[in-house]
Amino acid sequence: MNDRPHSPIQDLRVNAVLARLQGARQRSAGGGPRGSFNSRDPHAYAEQGFSIHSEQGELIYLLCRGLRATRVAEFATSVGMSTLYFAAAIRDNGGGTVIGSEIVPAKVETAKRNLAEAGLADYAEIREGDARKTLRDLGGPVDFVLIDGWPGESGPSLARG
Ligand SMILES: C[S@@+](CC[C@H](N)C(=O)[O-])C[C@H]1O[C@@H](n2cnc3c(N)ncnc32)[C@H](O)[C@@H]1O
Repeated sequence: MNDRPHSPIQDLRVNAVLARLQGARQRSAGGGPRGSFNSRDPHAYAEQGFSIHSEQGELIYLLCRGLRATRVAEFATSVGMSTLYFAAAIRDNGGGTVIGSEIVPAKVETAKRNLAEAGLADYAEIREGDARKTLRDLGGPVDFVLIDGWPGESGPSLARG
C-alpha cells in the first residue's frame, strides 16, 4: 500500500525505505535535548532520529528538483531521512552529491545502510564527526543547504527553523 499517493517521489525502492523510517519514528521523553532537564549530548540519543516529516521531505525534493540541484550540504544527517530526499532529487536531476554530516557514529552507519537499501548510496557522502569541522570545506559551491542540527549548550543553536 502506498501511504503517500501524492508524493513526487515515484521510486518504489526509495518510498519503501522512507515509509519504514517514518513508521519507526520514536518520540523522545520530556522534549528530548530541548527539554530543560535532559542531556544535550547527541550521543545520548543514538536511537532517535529527530527526522523531518514526509511533507518536509517532499518539499525538499521538489525545491531541489526545481533548482536542478546537484550539490547539497546538510547539517545534520541523523539516520538519513533528509539525506534520502536530497539524494533522490539529485539522482533524478541527473547526478551529483549530497554531503551529509553526523556526530554519532552509529547514526552514520544506519544512514549509509538506508541509502544503500534505497539504491541511493552513489549520491551521498556522509562525513562523520562535528559538522562545524567536517563541513568547513565543501569542495566548491552548493545549490542548497539544510541546517537541521541541535540546540546549543550555551552558545548559538545549531538548528535554524
Ligand atoms: C534533527 S537531527 C537531524 C535530522 C535529519 N536532518 C533528518 O531529518 O533526517 C539532528 C542531528 O544532529 C546531530 N548532531 C548534533 N550535533 C552535531 C554536530 N556538532 N555535528 C554533527 N551532527 C550533530 C545529532 O546527533 C542528530 O542526529
